[in-house]
Amino acid sequence: MGSALPAWIAEGLAESGGWLDAAKFARALAESRLEAGALALALLPVAAARAHAPVSGFEVGAVALATMKGGSEALALGANLEFVGAPLEGTVHAEQAAVHLARSHGAQRLRALALSTAPCGHCRQFLQETEGAEDLQVLLEAGGDHRLVELLPHSFGPEALGKQPALFGGGSAALRLRDDSSDALVRDAFEAACLAHAPYSRSPAGAAVLRADGRSFTGCSLESVAFNPSLGALAAALSRMAMARTPGEAFAPPVRAVLVEAAGLASQRVLSEALLGAFAPRLALEVHAAELA
Ligand code: THU
Ligand code: ZN
Repeated sequence: MGSALPAWIAEGLAESGGWLDAAKFARALAESRLEAGALALALLPVAAARAHAPVSGFEVGAVALATMKGGSEALALGANLEFVGAPLEGTVHAEQAAVHLARSHGAQRLRALALSTAPCGHCRQFLQETEGAEDLQVLLEAGGDHRLVELLPHSFGPEALGKQPALFGGGSAALRLRDDSSDALVRDAFEAACLAHAPYSRSPAGAAVLRADGRSFTGCSLESVAFNPSLGALAAALSRMAMARTPGEAFAPPVRAVLVEAAGLASQRVLSEALLGAFAPRLALEVHAAELA
């Protein structure tokens, strides 16, 4: 099945950071003659090739079928990311990487998620945060087409804390950067923080990392009603950097890393410093405070 994939798809993914926009997705469907779910499944090895799993050696791929404004569809690839010497809690699961990437590109909803392995309990919970979670179609590489509600019956959802599943629809937070920096990477991290999904802690965070070649990547925090499955902003930014590799390319540390957060009931500073301290020991995390405007 994988051999039906046009070569340009994999070749363009480092440049696009693992994102196949609506036009490219439509072209890929036409050229591969696969339907959307089958194309997502066929792309799993391409996604998994961007994994960085030096702790487990277990490489996971995820491909999210995202609905965009206006109803067109696009694909977001994700892979797992592990940090040697850091708390295991800093790990990014392939599902989280794909969800964060789709959201960063303005996706409104997820229709389906193809996975190279059965989703762990933490990811089933993380996905509860998305609109229409019960109907989300989970396609497994080994075979299997499930609704999330089948995989996580009797679930603990955002309603338990008085919220709606709104990970994709959540509006941008009105934040103000305390030191009003004009540094481009700080501004990038600030803009990412404005897009965070932080309904539980009301402490949105954004991060930006700079690669040696000058390309930067941003990430924002995505909170889960069960707290622990939440995705941190710095880990999310590093995940986007990992997805923008060519297969086989080593995962080199960034040359700068910025965290902007409106710390309050939660703060990502300590865990972010631990991740960076393990992955890029010579690099100091640049932290800038924001406040809810
Ligand atoms: N992993 C995922 O990425 N998704 C899952 O749902 C299963 C587990 C990753 C996390 C970790 O990097 C490795 O697989 C071993 O658990
Ligand atoms: Zn998982």
